[in-house]
Amino acid sequence: MAIRKIREEGDPILSKVCRPVEKMNLRTKILIQDMFETMYNAYGVGLAGPQVGVLRRLCVIDVDGEHPYVFINPEIIEQSGEQTGEEGCLSIPGMCALVTRPEHVKVRALDLKMEPFELEADGLLARACCHEFDHLDGIMYPSRALEPIHPVDQEGEADAEAEAAEEEKL
Ligand code: NI
Repeated sequence: MAIRKIREEGDPILSKVCRPVEKMNLRTKILIQDMFETMYNAYGVGLAGPQVGVLRRLCVIDVDGEHPYVFINPEIIEQSGEQTGEEGCLSIPGMCALVTRPEHVKVRALDLKMEPFELEADGLLARACCHEFDHLDGIMYPSRALEPIHPVDQEGEADAEAEAAEEEKL
């Protein structure tokens, strides 16, 4: 396994729409292993293909360090409710902003064996799915944020909800 370079905001690859993964092969398996290693190494909870320079519809997520998920060609097939909280991104280090996302999503995707599965996700996992799947369409969280992005450790008049929310690097 290897740690890959994480592309940062301003890199044009981050605004491109990814193509589907058509079949699983050794190269893609290694890519996915590397994406997990790169994500954990950066203390992130999610990482999408374009963030490591690969314009394919796949991402990895692990919001608690115990439940690693691979999503290939994912789509959100249902969503409900909403949550507003601080969001960050490994491609925009040190910054965050409040973003409203669905509280609950139902996801359909392919797994490592290219077999379909569905997952119901709430809270941070739902947020991570929305954030990572956006990356596959070239969408970064600042375009969905309720406010300008700002440094994570900024002192200020953040309201109680924002203070309570844990900023996560997705
Ligand atoms: Ni991100």
